[in-house]
Amino acid sequence: MQDQNSVTEPPVPTVAVDPLAQWGDTAPRGGRAVLNRLLKGDGKVPLFLGQTLIKSLRDQGYNTTTSALCEFVDNSFQWGADEVRVYIVQGKRDKTFRILVVDNGQGMPSAAQQVAMSFGGSMAYEARVGISRFGMGMKTAGLSISPTLDNYTWQEPRAYYNVTLDVNEIGKDRSNLLEVPTPQLNDDLPSDIVDIITRPTAWPKNPQESQTLLATSRDELHDRLGRSGTIVYLPDCDRLSFKKEQTLAEHAIKEMGRVYRWFIAQGKRLYVNNRLVEAFDPTYQMATARHTRVEGLTETRSRLIFSKPIDVPIADGSSKMTRVTVKLFALPYEAWIGLGRKTLKNDLQVYGDFTVSFMRNHREVDIAATVRAISINKHATNNWLRLEIDFNGEADEGFGIASNKQGVRLRDFAAEKIRDLIEEPLAALRKEIAEIKAKHVALKSSSTVSEAEQRATGAEGLQGKSLPVDAESDEQKADLEKNLRALAIGLKRDSETDDQAFERVKKSRFLTRTVHNDYHPFFDSEYKYERIILTINTAHPFYQRVWEPLQSLTRTTAAGGTPGEDEDAEANPDTVNTCTEVLVGLQLLFFSLARTQAQLAGHDKDEERKQLFKNFRKEWSSNLETQLRSELTASL
Ligand SMILES: Nc1ncnc2c1ncn2[C@@H]1O[C@H](COP(=O)(O)OP(=O)(O)O)[C@@H](O)[C@H]1O
Ligand SMILES: [Mg+2]
Repeated sequence: MQDQNSVTEPPVPTVAVDPLAQWGDTAPRGGRAVLNRLLKGDGKVPLFLGQTLIKSLRDQGYNTTTSALCEFVDNSFQWGADEVRVYIVQGKRDKTFRILVVDNGQGMPSAAQQVAMSFGGSMAYEARVGISRFGMGMKTAGLSISPTLDNYTWQEPRAYYNVTLDVNEIGKDRSNLLEVPTPQLNDDLPSDIVDIITRPTAWPKNPQESQTLLATSRDELHDRLGRSGTIVYLPDCDRLSFKKEQTLAEHAIKEMGRVYRWFIAQGKRLYVNNRLVEAFDPTYQMATARHTRVEGLTETRSRLIFSKPIDVPIADGSSKMTRVTVKLFALPYEAWIGLGRKTLKNDLQVYGDFTVSFMRNHREVDIAATVRAISINKHATNNWLRLEIDFNGEADEGFGIASNKQGVRLRDFAAEKIRDLIEEPLAALRKEIAEIKAKHVALKSSSTVSEAEQRATGAEGLQGKSLPVDAESDEQKADLEKNLRALAIGLKRDSETDDQAFERVKKSRFLTRTVHNDYHPFFDSEYKYERIILTINTAHPFYQRVWEPLQSLTRTTAAGGTPGEDEDAEANPDTVNTCTEVLVGLQLLFFSLARTQAQLAGHDKDEERKQLFKNFRKEWSSNLETQLRSELTASL
């Protein structure tokens, strides 16, 4: 606590002699000079104060370096490139990062280049058909990474026009009205640019194998740059989302392969650090996408449930409509679930939170596991279905597309149309997937059961006392077969034929089944047809609190389990093995008890003992239930 008396009033602000006394130390000097002049009423006030504004624009939010770099790739594809190369390199000596994007698009005439380097300058302003629209991307994205943005463009061989925006230089400029520098014509490119393009990058390693260079010498480079194209160069990257060249490049490859999947599938080539970027299609439809090369796939495509066009108003209350296409897909669960966790997660990226993707003019602008606005919430089936929503720039208002094209913010007048369309088919698909999953889980757990059955059966030869035998004569044996056939029908698993079930029942002397009955004991056992038949009651808290949880832990196996809610939880194989071992042990506990009772009751003849054991199970079951439930109420 502070001493009351020592609290002082905050100082009353006095009128500063210097009106810019509150400016920060890093504020641009030129801007200070201009403002001082303007405050004295000297000169016309420009709408934009370039010296300060350009510095502030550096903070236009891009989530990651990759999403800023996408602005350049957007422009390249928009302006006719069929090959785009991105380089992210760190200087060996000075450790400075440099980023460069070169394309073979149509380039720009010098006057257009000068306009293009101004804020708001665009050759596609308010266009809704391509990717460009705002006249900001190249500048804000470039400056968000580096204080210097260099642009080279050419429309004939070796006629490179260059304009540079340099935030620090501009900050020093003392003129009221700032102008974009006049493009400078050169017949060559600076050495640092030539070096980046013609030398292998430090990552990927093994350049001979994994890097395809555009050119290996200056002369070859001029040839390859050809008739037209554009280079964006960021020589001095001071704001990057990762510290390492490899991480930056890997992130760019991963994201861009998905964002530009359609362009790549159309035959456009995109490289990052001389490595060709493959398309990744989270809807698993594209015949050439990366997932089709994953080993061991019997099925490479998801199933299209529907593809439907809907008309969405271009603005709230507008009668003018624009076409949006909504597609729903189901992943091939049955073909894929057995592939193993590593393949599903790393190679196929089933668990990548890719449930809903939004494509604006074929370029992905957002992807997410859940989208509340269209009622796609967290759900255990989300990883096994995909929605793709395709729209064009006319729908930008409805989808809430901002100038940095990072993500959608759906407005309700658009969202409600999508919601209505998907509600029923989505619910039906979720149900279908849940059923397939449940079947798979049942299959998996029955195979765990048989491990204990096998072990108990195998141990029969080692037991001191053998189990009573009923069938001795041929006639009795034939009868037994008949009974076992009937029994097998009742114990048949979904995946088995009658014959397979019979073979299994015949081979095994221990069998397990489940019932769901509120009035039965937690387990029951009988000795019948020379078989120990164990029944586990799924309605008893023993099953719900002990058996099932243990069983579900054994299901999250490293080799492709089918987990419930937390599909991504990486199960430690040691834990899984231990749980499996414990579950088998628990079953053997029951089998051995059942076996003991069968021995003691003799040839099924001792009705009195049988009744005693029955009462015993009943009492035990109710005691156990009381104890298992007591933890909820009792406090010692
Ligand atoms: N790679 C490129 N090839 C040809 N023209 C380009 C390229 N990049 C940018 N431009 C030109 O620069 C303009 C401004 O680009 P940008 O700042 O990204 O805004 P926008 O893409 O919204 O128009 C574009 O309209 C285009 O005329
Ligand atoms: Mg652009």
